[in-house]
Amino acid sequence: MAKVLIATEKPFAAAAVNGIKKIFDEAGFETVLLEKYTDKSELINAVADVDAMIIRSDKATAEVIGAAKNLKIIVRAGAGYDNIDLAAANERKIVAMNTPGQNSNAVAELAAGMMVFMARSQYKGGSGSELKGKKLGLHAYGYVPKMLAAIAKGFGMECYAFDPFISEENITADGVKVVKDLNELYTTCQYISLHIPANDKTKKSINFELMSKMPKGATIVNTARKEVIDEDSLKRMLTERPDFKYISDIAPECHAEIDGKFENRYYATPKKQGAETSEANINAGLAAANQIVGFLKNGITKFQVNKF
Ligand code: 3PG
Repeated sequence: MAKVLIATEKPFAAAAVNGIKKIFDEAGFETVLLEKYTDKSELINAVADVDAMIIRSDKATAEVIGAAKNLKIIVRAGAGYDNIDLAAANERKIVAMNTPGQNSNAVAELAAGMMVFMARSQYKGGSGSELKGKKLGLHAYGYVPKMLAAIAKGFGMECYAFDPFISEENITADGVKVVKDLNELYTTCQYISLHIPANDKTKKSINFELMSKMPKGATIVNTARKEVIDEDSLKRMLTERPDFKYISDIAPECHAEIDGKFENRYYATPKKQGAETSEANINAGLAAANQIVGFLKNGITKFQVNKF
């Protein structure tokens, strides 16, 4: 009987866990649940004899993968898989997958809410501004920004996007204007929403040179990854540009240093919150479970993100 671990330091909603267990029960698999663990040794112990695992932002490091002697597949219930050591997975021919699109609506709604929150002086009572008529720049155009564009258009925002991996036709079909490069995106838009993954090319790529191109009343919304921001540049922008605002659900390393220092211009949620809805948990969790069943029973590798 295949054994599947659900390892979630930040647990899924109960309904998602129940749904995942039901899928594995019906497949004849055993489910092991490790939630809210506080030390990686708990994860290392839990993976020892499992065939498959579902994770969220949990770190599937080389050490964890090395300890999982029977592991055949890891599914990241979510979009970004920068938390999986793919080289370690490749070495053992372990399939890594994500569940693209499954939690995107939750993240898009959060990003939209974050724009309103910042435009309205963090709901502290001061006069703010409206989103209507403002320009929103979508830095990358995957599932989340596509959904965010639909919401933002409802606010009366003009949407622009830059994504070299998505065809111009697909973007313009959504009523979103395509710009030729990041320079144009950042120069044009008062609001920028980040949707790039964290990888060697993108880490620290949101730097002073780029951010300082933004027009007056600039706000950056980061529901992507904290690593993509160059934090010295962020501090410099907040210090040198009194109109600049930054909001994120993944607090930068320098959070303690800057929190409370810039009035209503900086905010980070206490924990990562984009995908933190029961709907997103159910969509991503159940998709992950079905992908594991599909792979272990029928060898289906759709959504595999590694090659070996
Ligand atoms: C993702 O990559 O899917 C999001 O960042 C959500 O991450 P989470 O499952 O840790 O909330």
